[in-house]
Amino acid sequence: MSAEKIIFLNQKGGVGKTTTAVNVGSALAQMGKRVLLVDIDSQSNMTSAVSADSRLPGTYEVIVGQCSPRDACQPTPVKNLFAMAGNINLAGLNIELVNEESREFFFKNAIAPIEDDWDYILVDCPPSLGLVTMNAMCWAKYVIIPLQCEYLAMEGLNMLMRTIANIKKSLNPDLAILGILFTMYSKRTKLANDVVEDISSFFPDLVFKTIIPRNVRLSEAPSHGLPINVYDASSAGTKSYQSLAEEVVSRVRK
Ligand SMILES: Nc1ncnc2c1ncn2[C@@H]1O[C@H](COP(=O)(O)OP(=O)(O)OP(=O)(O)O)[C@@H](O)[C@H]1O
Ligand SMILES: [Mg+2]
Repeated sequence: MSAEKIIFLNQKGGVGKTTTAVNVGSALAQMGKRVLLVDIDSQSNMTSAVSADSRLPGTYEVIVGQCSPRDACQPTPVKNLFAMAGNINLAGLNIELVNEESREFFFKNAIAPIEDDWDYILVDCPPSLGLVTMNAMCWAKYVIIPLQCEYLAMEGLNMLMRTIANIKKSLNPDLAILGILFTMYSKRTKLANDVVEDISSFFPDLVFKTIIPRNVRLSEAPSHGLPINVYDASSAGTKSYQSLAEEVVSRVRK
């Protein structure tokens, strides 16, 4: 069986892409799935959040053919959870690829040899829709869209969904939205409740039932290089990402 291929995508920065990729990945690993987290962001936040080493060959080196994909998979503190590191070289990759033939398919071609090794391959995207992100969109089967419950969330979402629809039409007919995820939710905030209500009524089938609350333990865990289920197993963050992982498993099965 080939891996379920999921990207965490939103062109807006700081909405919880990395937090979600890491903690869904770790929750899936705890359920016994073999999970590879792939960092395609030159900030490499995902890499450090699971104590992987961004000085070792990583996603950039795999994409340009300097390292085999299998050799770029590093263990993490969590059993069954591995990481392909991001590093600063990724920052120049949009420009390096621009004049290449089939420039949208470098990632897909590079990662293909290891797809059968994993149950899930999860890609953490940068906050942009540049060529490297396009490469992830041309490879993936599913998109998870993390969304912060704030003013103008809907505008960014519409634009992103148009982009996804365009890629599906032109370059990757397999691409589908697995779900929209509300993150950093505070139930006492009226605006947050309004945003959840609006977007849920607009996209009732797409919104995940699980809503990720604002939880200080989730923001502390990355500086310890640990996913939330290892850093604080009893936190609200752990419970919410476990519940999201269960939803992900049941949605990909459909
Ligand atoms: N549920 C949460 N509760 C509290 N803090 C959170 C939560 N989710 C994310 N954060 C914090 O918010 C910040 C942004 O989150 P994160 O890095 O996951 O977003 P991102 O979309 O990956 O950002 P970028 O676009 O820069 O890659 C981080 O400091 C993270 O620790
Ligand atoms: Mg990030």
